[in-house]
Amino acid sequence: MIISLIAAVAENGVIGKDNDLVWRLPDDMKFFMKTTEHHCVLTGRRNYESIPPKYRPLKNRTNIVVTRQQEYGSEEGIQVAPSVEEGVAMAKSLGEQELFVIGGGQIYEQTINLAQRLYITEVMARFEGDTYFPQYDRSQWEELSRIRHPKDEKHRCEFYYTVLEKIP
Ligand SMILES: NC(=O)c1ccc[n+]([C@@H]2O[C@H](COP(=O)([O-])OP(=O)(O)OC[C@H]3O[C@@H](n4cnc5c(N)ncnc54)[C@H](OP(=O)(O)O)[C@@H]3O)[C@@H](O)[C@H]2O)c1
Repeated sequence: MIISLIAAVAENGVIGKDNDLVWRLPDDMKFFMKTTEHHCVLTGRRNYESIPPKYRPLKNRTNIVVTRQQEYGSEEGIQVAPSVEEGVAMAKSLGEQELFVIGGGQIYEQTINLAQRLYITEVMARFEGDTYFPQYDRSQWEELSRIRHPKDEKHRCEFYYTVLEKIP
């Protein structure tokens, strides 16, 4: 099983503010939904709760929520993991081939060194925020693809879908 991180990241590394996203990029959201569909997704409890209730659990995928709260899991249709390692092990035991780590900041930080692939949407603007994607050494990653999405009436800034793979 490979571990992939998927995130949209501003030029200054910001990924969120006040437990929400700081932009609305509908085509990137569609890309996220399509890429992660039929896979296990690993999420921090805060990111999970930032998903509007009508969209969670994210459908057609196994939602693994990482939390230290022993009683968590009142919602139906999620798997609760008491640590990142146990969340990863759960996905493996389900026969997953590619686990997607979907955030937020704390969970990316704890998985960046386990990841073999990164799906980074580079958002070409700087934003104010309180949550950042972790620093990583770009020289250790090969860029497999880069696709530009222009700014338009639904997308207030230009962005690039990129896929990076860890150099063995
Ligand atoms: N731009 C993007 O692509 C993107 C993607 C995802 C999220 N985001 C943004 O990221 C922000 C949320 O990120 P965040 O860093 O605040 O929170 P988070 O990583 O989503 O969740 C943090 C929570 O996860 C649990 N946790 C963390 N490490 C753990 C461990 N080792 N063992 C057990 N549980 C652990 C804890 O839950 P308990 O407190 O319940 O114990 C902790 O409070 C939001 O603003 C969101 O919009 C952005």
